[in-house]
Amino acid sequence: MHIAFVASEGVPFSKTGGLADVVGALPRALATLGHQVSVYLPRYKQTKLADLVTVVRSITIPFDDKYRFASVVTAGNQSGIKFYFIEYPQYFDRDALYGTASGDYPDNAERFALFSRAVLEAAKILGVPNVFHCHDWQSALLPVLLRTVYAEDPAFRDVGTVFTIHNMGYQGLFPPEVLPLLMLPWDLFTMSKMEFFGQVNLLKGAITYSDYVTTVSKKYSQEIQTAEYGFGLEGVLRDRAGTVTGILNGVDYDEWSPQTDKFTTCRYSPQDFAGKANCKKDLLAGFGVSNADARLPVIGIVSRFAAQKGFDLIAQIMDRLAHEEMIVVALGAGDKAYEEMFLRLNKQFPNKIAVKVAYDNAIAHKIEAGSDMFLMPSKYEPCGLNQIYSLKYGTVPIVRATGGLDDTIEPWDPRTGKGTGFKFSDYNGEALLLTIKQALHAFRDQTSWQVLMRNGMNKDFSWNASAREYGKIYERVKQARNLTPAAAEKVLV
Ligand code: ADP
Ligand code: GLC
Repeated sequence: MHIAFVASEGVPFSKTGGLADVVGALPRALATLGHQVSVYLPRYKQTKLADLVTVVRSITIPFDDKYRFASVVTAGNQSGIKFYFIEYPQYFDRDALYGTASGDYPDNAERFALFSRAVLEAAKILGVPNVFHCHDWQSALLPVLLRTVYAEDPAFRDVGTVFTIHNMGYQGLFPPEVLPLLMLPWDLFTMSKMEFFGQVNLLKGAITYSDYVTTVSKKYSQEIQTAEYGFGLEGVLRDRAGTVTGILNGVDYDEWSPQTDKFTTCRYSPQDFAGKANCKKDLLAGFGVSNADARLPVIGIVSRFAAQKGFDLIAQIMDRLAHEEMIVVALGAGDKAYEEMFLRLNKQFPNKIAVKVAYDNAIAHKIEAGSDMFLMPSKYEPCGLNQIYSLKYGTVPIVRATGGLDDTIEPWDPRTGKGTGFKFSDYNGEALLLTIKQALHAFRDQTSWQVLMRNGMNKDFSWNASAREYGKIYERVKQARNLTPAAAEKVLV
């Protein structure tokens, strides 16, 4: 089957978070299963392309003020996958992907509407897939266009759409005036389609119009159908609960494994983790705390700094955590308020929390390899990848039991020797502190700690199983096209 991925970021071409990891790895897993996969991405300033070839010189995108003309370039065939980049420098040749420290780019609706339309037009020239697999609000307009503006286009008559929600917290909300600007019909602006409290909601459009909706863990697929996690769209999701499912993200172990890591100088494996001590030494030196006692447990953090990630809880407990024998090593960037919070904590407790405000993949790898524990106290977490990377590095996760964190981490039980990490449920500082203290206590018994490390290192979260699940959904979506609604429901639900 031919699947076309449509997304706003993908490794190694562009990245701000886990979406890019998924878009970089899942297509390869699908190709291994025998699917033909194309991936459409915007071409940003940060997208570095070797052997660039222009494959479509000009695509016309109508806007109501003037037409815009995009082109499509490719970087060749990478592991059997065709990557296509929509080139429109006025929109994408910018320093960041979505916005600056002062907020989102004001023309994000135009930018990603142009992207979605350009992909449809490009596909007509480069090859119409059986299924478009779109991700997050930036490509959410594509399934809407396909079933409205493009409904009569014979090229797309048999094409299905799968939409993956990576994060309900980002919906693509814009004022109604964008509809005429983007030449979208006003009848989309109703409560059953894209209207949302007086605004246009792109994610809502995709949930309404896609043939199948997935999200990135089983638990999150249930959570988002409740008011606590649905960000106002829980009802829309519940309405189509039969065609909403959760498929856990996998890990690209070519990128994230202590046995082959390109960014660390020390290698180790479940059979022999002597090398991890050197990684820890390097890590502490890199963070300017090389005088710290090497026996102290190191708690690593690598994250986008956003409210979702739960770091306000650390601020609540840091004065008490500082009494414990441990050191926190944190790497992150994002919301100004959290960047400042971490820098403040570092000033207040310089021997207890070392911080780098940056986005740096090499340091992210060093933290995974050099820490003893990894902290993700997320308020919500659709899947979360870093805790899964941590398992492979023998870096024991401490997580809040939400979304993918709950699905991937099993609580450690020293009596049975089973489990892979530490979890807490209530979203408050006390629960977090208690759980960190449990982990620190467990660390003192190094013999059983090594059992815990090994339990995690031996887990396999590679993409194969999840790619097969996606394959089944693509198959059902393809079959259901052109059936009567009642017959289609039988195939899909
Ligand atoms: P999210 O997508 O919500 O940010 P995930 O855990 O799914 O969370 O994925 C985050 C990805 O982004 C991981 O690959 C992680 O290593 C990377 N990442 C996050 N913050 C940084 C940072 N400051 N520097 C380098 N990599 C980062
Ligand atoms: C999102 C989520 C994260 C998930 C990632 C990839 O950014 O916040 O939990 O792992 O997408 O699906």
